[in-house]
Amino acid sequence: MFKEVELFKSEREKLFDRLADRLETAYNLNRKVVSFQANKEEPIYRWFKYKEGFSSALVKYFLSEYAPDGGKVLDPFAGVGTTLFAGQELGWESHGIELLPVGTFVMQTRQAISEIQVDEFRAISKKMWNEISTMRKWNNYIHHISITKDAFPDDTEEYLNKYLAYCSQINDKPVQTILKFAAFAVLEEISYTRKDGQYLRWDYRCKRELSGKPFDKGKILSFEDAVKVKINQILQDLQPNQSSSLFDQFENISIEKKPVNIIEGTCLEELPKLESDFFDFIITSPPYCNRYDYTRTYALELVYLGYDHEQVKNLRQSMLSCTVENKDKIEYLENLYSSINQKEAFEKVIKSYQNSDAMMEVNTILDELNKRGKLNNNNIARMVKNYFLELCFVIYEMARVTKSGGYCVMVNDNVRYGGEEIPVDLILSDFAENFGFNINKIFVLPKGKGNSSQQMGNYGRTEVRKCVYLWQKK
Ligand SMILES: C[S@@+](CC[C@H](N)C(=O)[O-])C[C@H]1O[C@@H](n2cnc3c(N)ncnc32)[C@H](O)[C@@H]1O
Repeated sequence: MFKEVELFKSEREKLFDRLADRLETAYNLNRKVVSFQANKEEPIYRWFKYKEGFSSALVKYFLSEYAPDGGKVLDPFAGVGTTLFAGQELGWESHGIELLPVGTFVMQTRQAISEIQVDEFRAISKKMWNEISTMRKWNNYIHHISITKDAFPDDTEEYLNKYLAYCSQINDKPVQTILKFAAFAVLEEISYTRKDGQYLRWDYRCKRELSGKPFDKGKILSFEDAVKVKINQILQDLQPNQSSSLFDQFENISIEKKPVNIIEGTCLEELPKLESDFFDFIITSPPYCNRYDYTRTYALELVYLGYDHEQVKNLRQSMLSCTVENKDKIEYLENLYSSINQKEAFEKVIKSYQNSDAMMEVNTILDELNKRGKLNNNNIARMVKNYFLELCFVIYEMARVTKSGGYCVMVNDNVRYGGEEIPVDLILSDFAENFGFNINKIFVLPKGKGNSSQQMGNYGRTEVRKCVYLWQKK
């Protein structure tokens, strides 16, 4: 009887059964702690909201709970550096890899903060407005790509160019970086756009021809007003006497701070260059398998940082496959591993991927649903297949660079396509086990997230798990 039941179980159910005792609802890890929201009141994080980030509280919790003695921490999807700087505050040596220049620019700003002469910054930020407004000649720094064209009112666009020209001739590098950051942090506010899931939403007042229900984003601040507010916010947080100031955070703590090492690039290429058995802890959150396109959401910021159409396109393709536009990277990975004499490692990863029955089941079902026209985009099956394949390489490398006894914490959401749940937590943990991690826990957040309204209509409201995995290198 039991055997028959087993026979009709899907591979995902079998995997669930195998790992069920590791799943644990974590009441202390609510959505707020896991998401960027818990950072809201912290200086720096409140200057620029990176909604894709997790909280420093989460990082500090895991580091103190599982490795109070400190050591070396890595985040291969570093974002704005939450892991790295929270680790630094606890005395850890922090290393991070991030592909998107938006994240690396915020991290560089954070480093500039610790070097800045506040009085110099205050003085320059006061006198600059007069000099900018009387500027007669300047180079244009903003070169739009198609998805950002006409994003700013004309006078704002002119001001932005003048401001960037002004910043470029400031010799004091930390002041230059922070002033550049102040305008970077208000780009959405001063534009006709709003970040809205996968795309930018456009206000009805822009020059573009828009279809659908008009969108009114409310008051659009002038460039000067918005940047002044931002600079004041930064200055306030830099005051030595403020109770929640950065100085409390950075100077009153006796812990010796080690420098933060930031690598700009794709972790698919950068991880294989790192030494084996080097890190005591990895805390990371890769992009989720949910079609979210960072290069579109942050298109204004990328253009502001000087990225052109071709460069943005390349960034999109280099990202971990999480959009329907991402193409296969398998040939690139094969060449990469051959070029570093790691063909065996390449074969090992591919084999692990192919040996995962749950993964193969997901791929087969999605291909079938695709054939029957049940997925709302033809490339979803390809995206899912490649998302896991690329993460399989990342997990192999993470296991390699972690010391025996060291930990890896990963934050990720499960997803559902065409009504089929994809247990991201279980499949990735299965890969991790193959590469030498023990699956200590899969912490499930008390409330998962709902479904998209379209899917709710078709399949009823059920929740997919949102998890924090805790793996330990054997
Ligand atoms: C969920 S976010 C991580 C946020 C981070 N935990 C924080 O608190 O700021 C995922 C990040 O992975 C980055 N990313 C995507 N593909 C990458 C790749 N191939 N290599 C390195 N970083 C990548 C994205 O740009 C994004 O910043």
